[in-house]
Amino acid sequence: MNTILDKKLVLKNKKVLLRVDLNVPMNNGAITETTRIEKILPTINYLLEKEAKIIIISHVGRPKGKVVNEMSLEPISNKLSQFLNKKILFKKFLINEDTINQIKEIKNASIIMLENIRFHKGEEENEENFSKQISSLGDIYVNDAFSCSHRSHASIEGITKYMPSFFGLQIIEEINALKRLTSEIKKPISCIIGGSKISTKINIIKNLIKIFDSIIIVGGMANTVLKFKGINIGRSINEVDKNNLVKEIFEDSIKYNCEINCPLDVVVSNKLDGLGKGKELDEIENDDMILDIGPKTISSIEKIINKSNTILWNGPAGYFENPNFENGTKKISQMISDKTIRDNIFSVVGGGETVAAINKYSKIDSFTFVSTAGGAFLEFLEGKTLPGIKALNSCQN
Ligand code: 3PG
Repeated sequence: MNTILDKKLVLKNKKVLLRVDLNVPMNNGAITETTRIEKILPTINYLLEKEAKIIIISHVGRPKGKVVNEMSLEPISNKLSQFLNKKILFKKFLINEDTINQIKEIKNASIIMLENIRFHKGEEENEENFSKQISSLGDIYVNDAFSCSHRSHASIEGITKYMPSFFGLQIIEEINALKRLTSEIKKPISCIIGGSKISTKINIIKNLIKIFDSIIIVGGMANTVLKFKGINIGRSINEVDKNNLVKEIFEDSIKYNCEINCPLDVVVSNKLDGLGKGKELDEIENDDMILDIGPKTISSIEKIINKSNTILWNGPAGYFENPNFENGTKKISQMISDKTIRDNIFSVVGGGETVAAINKYSKIDSFTFVSTAGGAFLEFLEGKTLPGIKALNSCQN
């Protein structure tokens, strides 16, 4: 692995193009969640310590090759600067002569941040010329954006063809944690998977079934499974015509000896902002919406967690935005975090909503690893090779 920790790599006096993922949740220009910013601090501090000249490249949102003022990285640059307690020179405009000149002047152990790289059309199109142009801004490229590494974009993939390229500290941690789930497993291994659509997670389930001992399906996607089992789910969200997917899951679970668990009882309401009512599966009425798992389900999940040595959790168990339907998600968060602390098991939690949930109900550092990646996390667990990682691995620096 080409990493920035390589003893032979000289960073002093070098212009390091550092690709990070600062695509953080924002509301009216204010940053609402900073985990992604905090996760890249070790890499930046390491580069500063080694007296590199840091040029940060990132994106926020999906501006589709156009300048969208609301998607400027400026507020994020300010926040990062506060975390580092260090000045960052923010380049407001697109990459131009002036950027090149300012980069030439940059001093050791100082930081420039470029404006949203996705304002350039060439980024998402992975244009060769654009990749060359950005590569010419530095001496060394470092990718510390695992959560963007499923994208074949210029600042993730194309650029690695034109300069010595290395893994940053955060991306290595992420890859190692996910590898421990799929190849260096300490069994029994269980997965709790939630979220609204089974079709978006089917490939992960199919990949994990081969190695996991138990998979617990919760959240909106469990409704599709309950419906397949002939249970009346009323007006609950579910996906139509997905019986073949659910059938495949059950067939594979027998083939690979993996136990599939679904909700045994639920909490319903007839509106999202309503109050919850606990129900057995055979009590659900046509007007009901399933919005959380019930106490029997929680205690069956607890038993599985307690006998696991490795746990993966992705996706909430219910509509936790309303406190009346947060109990399942809250209990899962607390049970995994308690078990991790008590028995020193290996727990990995990932996905935007799940990270929001653990921020609300537990302490981030009470899990072994928390992944802030969305799509990249899922694709890695599906067993796909991520283009950004492949590109770094193929670099002959
Ligand atoms: C993410 O939030 O998962 C990454 O920043 C990638 O963003 P994208 O889905 O817009 O490519």
